This record gives sequence, C-alpha cells and structure tokens, in this order.
Amino acid sequence: MIVKKINLKNFRNYKRAEIDFNENINIIYGNNAQGKTNILEGIYLFSLGKSNRAQKDDEMINFDENEASLELNFFSKERDKFGKIELNRKKRKKIFLNEIPVKRNSDLVGSLNVVFFGPEYLSLVREGPKNRRKNLDILISQLKVQYMNSLSDYKKLIEQKSALLKDDKKDKIFLSVLNEKIIALSVYLIKTRFLYIKKIEEISKKIQLEISEGKENLELEYISCGMNIDENKIKNLEEILKKKAEEMFHREEKYFECIFGPHRDDIDFKINGQSLKLFGSQGQQKTAVLVQKIAEVELFREEIGEYPVLLLDDIMSELDSQRQDFVLNKLSNMQIFITCTDAERLKVLKDANFIEIEKGSMKKCTCI
Ligand SMILES: Nc1ncnc2c1ncn2[C@@H]1O[C@H](COP(=O)(O)OP(=O)(O)OP(=O)(O)O)[C@@H](O)[C@H]1O
Ligand SMILES: [Mg+2]
Repeated sequence: MIVKKINLKNFRNYKRAEIDFNENINIIYGNNAQGKTNILEGIYLFSLGKSNRAQKDDEMINFDENEASLELNFFSKERDKFGKIELNRKKRKKIFLNEIPVKRNSDLVGSLNVVFFGPEYLSLVREGPKNRRKNLDILISQLKVQYMNSLSDYKKLIEQKSALLKDDKKDKIFLSVLNEKIIALSVYLIKTRFLYIKKIEEISKKIQLEISEGKENLELEYISCGMNIDENKIKNLEEILKKKAEEMFHREEKYFECIFGPHRDDIDFKINGQSLKLFGSQGQQKTAVLVQKIAEVELFREEIGEYPVLLLDDIMSELDSQRQDFVLNKLSNMQIFITCTDAERLKVLKDANFIEIEKGSMKKCTCI
C-alpha cells in the first residue's frame, strides 16, 4: 500500500498543508512540537477511521477553528483511492471513500492498512495488559472486519452488564440473557485472538532468532479467563467458559464488576522459557516489541498479499545503530514514514524523501 499525498485543513496545528510522499522512505523531520506526529496521525486516521491518540475527534480540530478536513490519496489493492474525513465540533465525523460516504468505521477498514510504532509502544512488554490487548485488537481489526464489529458489540454488552451488576433491583433474567450473549461473543473473540497470536508467534520467532543470532527463542502465551489458552482449550472453549462463568458470577455480584472475560486478556512474552516481563532486560523488552512490529508487517503481507504502510514515530533514536539497520534492511521493500528531530544519520538512505516541518507547515522537501 502506498500513501501518495495528504491534504490537511485546520487539522491539529496545520492550517493548510499539502504534502506529497514517495513510495519508499519518507523522513519527516524538524524540532519538537512542530507537527511531525500530527502527519502520522492524519495518515493513521484512514486505517480504522479513528485516531491512535485522540480520545475525542474534536481534539484534532485546530484550536481556533470549528471544522477540519483531511484528504488522502493512496494506492491499495491495485487501485488508486481517495479518502476524505471531515471533522466538525458540532457534528459527527464524516468519512468518504472515493467520494462515497462511509457509514460505519468498519466499512473503511481494509482500504488502508497501517502499522504504527511510537515510543509509547516500547513499554508494551513491561506495562499492564491494556495496551497489549489494544495493540492486538488494532491488528486483528484491520484484518477481519467481523472481529472489529464483534469486539465493539462485546464492549457494549460488558458496559450493560457492569451497570446491571451495580443496580440494586437488577433484572436477573436480563442478566442471564446478557451472560449468554457475552459467552457467545467471548468464544469468537478468544478463538480469533488465539489464531492471530499463533500466526504472529510463528513469524516473530524467526525474526527474534535472526536478531539475537540464534540465541533467543520467543514464545507468546495467550492468557484468557485465568487460563493459558492452547489447542485443547480452544476445542472445548464453549463448555469451559460456561462453567467458569457460572463459578465467577458470584464474585462478580459481590464486587459489582465484570471480572471475567476477554476484556481482561493478556499475552505473556517469553524468551527461552522465561517471562520477558519479569526477567527480561529493558533492551530485550524493547527488542521484543520491535520484533512484534516487524512481525505485524509480515502478517499483513501474508494475509492480504500487500505490505501495510509503516509509521515509525520517533522510534529510530530509541534504537541502537544495529537495530536501526535491522529495521531498515528488513523493511526495505515497503513504504515507511519516519519522524525524527535529527535526520543526519538517515541521510545515507537511498530513495528517501526528506520533509522538514516547521510550525505546522512544510518548510522544505528534498528527495535523495
Ligand atoms: N487541536 C490542535 N490545534 C492546534 N494545535 C494543536 C492541536 N493539537 C495539537 N496541537 C499542537 O501540535 C503541535 C505539534 O504536535 P506534534 O505532536 O505533531 O509535534 P512533533 O513535531 O511530533 O513533536 P515531537 O518532536 O515533540 O514529538 C504541538 O505543539 C501541539 O500543541
Ligand atoms: Mg512527535
């Protein structure tokens, strides 16, 4: 997939900007707080129809304005495509693909696939499970629309159930109907997550061996509903979940909270059998995330036959030169966007497009 051009109007700190990209490497550089990450966010918006960092859509509208728009020319699935997103403080966001309104975010999914890697991901292995789940959900959602919709249905049911658990006069029949629906969706979500975790594990195992010169065997252990999920559990998942859900329900009533289900899932990264979260060095933990991100890129290529667009936000300065070279060599045949404050080291790159950003506008564009 190739992003050819972005057009921004009142988006974040951009009043008006039109930026052309090349199909290999685009280095977006400049001082802090000039608008580099904003460009990546603008591209990212066209993958899932929502931002990777804004909680609410209107955060992205320029402080002095009431509406904003973004246009993206890109190439995917052998076709030129044109996306447009309109943001308005008073109205819901509007998305258009090839001039046709997109009713639900899920209808946009699959047109443009992106893998985003920023400094906030470097603690993915170390921190709590929330972001590990989020990262996995973003990946699978881009590959499987049904997953995105089921996940959203599941979250709504969990909210409903949580509210009901807190209600003194709760309707027990409604609660058991909710529980049944939740189990049905949980079975689907866990099976799908297991499938994709296995795929990612297979790819990242090879990359980890390569980057550690054969020394490190990486495994991903999927933990759901208090169990390490394996093939056997997957076969009998529905019965296991029904039984466990009954056992846990008394505790849920006691604590007025949904404490059981895939919204609590986690992934344990293991190197040579040891948990990376508990025993890995910071460097090893960072490397494992890098490996994950490269594996995500490969997974897209395997699943849909096309490379996604890779957005590397301020990540190069976090990696030593060996890791930087590893990334650039490994991903040499796809489109990459790199933001950084110092582009000097990257000047050696062939076929790169250097875009200097200053105060929300493009100051200079040099192609090497
Ligand atoms: N809605 C908005 N309206 C106007 N300006 C905004 C809005 N949202 C964010 N900004 C501004 O955009 C600026 C640039 O943000 P961005 O995150 O893209 O910077 P950056 O170039 O990536 O910097 P860094 O190198 O520190 O990561 C910030 O100064 C921020 O205050
Ligand atoms: Mg930034």
